[in-house]
Amino acid sequence: MLKLDYWAMPDSLNWLQYQPEISKFHEKLNKKEDAYTGWVDWPLRVERELLQDILNTAEEIRQRCTALVVIGIGGSYLGAKACIELLQSPFYNEHYAGKLKRPRIYFAGHHLSAIYYEELLERLNDEEVCLCVISKSGTTLEPSIAFELLRSYVQQRYGMEEAAKRIYAITDASKGILRVEADEQGYKTFAVPDDIGGRYSVLTPVGLLPIAVAGIDIVSMLEGAAQACKAYDNADLTENICYQYGLLRNLLQQDGKVIEIFEVYEGRLRYFTEWLKQLFGESECKEGQGVIPMSLQMSTDLHSMGQFLQDGRQIFFETVLTIEKIRKDVSLEGSEYAGIAKSMHELNQIVEESARKAHLKNNTPNIRLTVSELSAKSFGYMVYFFEKACAVSCYLTGVNPFDQPGVEAYKSNIKVALR
Ligand code: PA5
Repeated sequence: MLKLDYWAMPDSLNWLQYQPEISKFHEKLNKKEDAYTGWVDWPLRVERELLQDILNTAEEIRQRCTALVVIGIGGSYLGAKACIELLQSPFYNEHYAGKLKRPRIYFAGHHLSAIYYEELLERLNDEEVCLCVISKSGTTLEPSIAFELLRSYVQQRYGMEEAAKRIYAITDASKGILRVEADEQGYKTFAVPDDIGGRYSVLTPVGLLPIAVAGIDIVSMLEGAAQACKAYDNADLTENICYQYGLLRNLLQQDGKVIEIFEVYEGRLRYFTEWLKQLFGESECKEGQGVIPMSLQMSTDLHSMGQFLQDGRQIFFETVLTIEKIRKDVSLEGSEYAGIAKSMHELNQIVEESARKAHLKNNTPNIRLTVSELSAKSFGYMVYFFEKACAVSCYLTGVNPFDQPGVEAYKSNIKVALR
């Protein structure tokens, strides 16, 4: 499902030398020694009843509305956004949702843009609306204010009783003001598992409910994640590409390559790289350590940041995420480029290869992860791969992958400011 290639790596690359450390961290993860490691075996233990409940609720939402507003930020937003952008058409809201009789999906709660909310509320007037509010703590400012605004919109429009049927909440099982309100008002709720943190939660109800509403096969997604869970439950570094990738990032960091640039040549992967930025940035960049995750979308950024890649300070490495086969390709038959490539996808791969060759002239380290296809299954598989690679990479760096003291510092300053 996923293949790892790399070029221009540090000279000291000898897997066997690192095996003892990798074995230690493999065991640490399997024993779930740290808090918030419930994601490690989640794909194997997720209950059928929960999945059925999510599928039934998604169907109910599809029947009830023509627009679902998903409210959340960070780990309560990026996974679903990444998945829907990856697996649904870029024209989903404006074209396919209506055609397929599925709700359009809008996101809110991830910023405080007054202009956006004004326009969103106006847009919603033409739709039948449901809300899905997602916040593990229930107290994060941006989703709280968005929920306040949108809740009062649906209450005024539909009345209190009907509004409560149109609000779905995903939050802590027992704590927080969102849980209290949801129980009091009788909203349909799902719990964020206690042992899984925000950025590791896309395969829980946090991601699964909005993703299922968009018509994506969540059962197959979890099958993909379970497949990765089994494939990478292997301490042997010579075989486990997930640990190899985690180790390569760490060796490159030690070699002064402190920026990882995730590059995609397929636009649908753009939000997946946003999810990656959160996963790695929030997990690893602490205590003055860590690789800064950045992302570029090609070919667009080859014509701007391409200058930096080729000629700028060599403090980075590139991680290219690429897709082997795509279902809908465009033939170049009759085109002046037909001599170079038979299809648009093939041409895109040639551009990717040309950029790599150019950057390798500088000996810029380059990692390529090739996913065999774009599907719900491969999304689940990639999510698990990166979660585990990130955890191991953080352990090698010497930081806790599952806390986020920097983000909490900003959140508590906001609470002080709001007193
Ligand atoms: O990874 C994390 O824990 C964070 O990014 C959170 O997901 C984000 O801050 C949102 O928090 P909450 O779901 O409590 O609103």
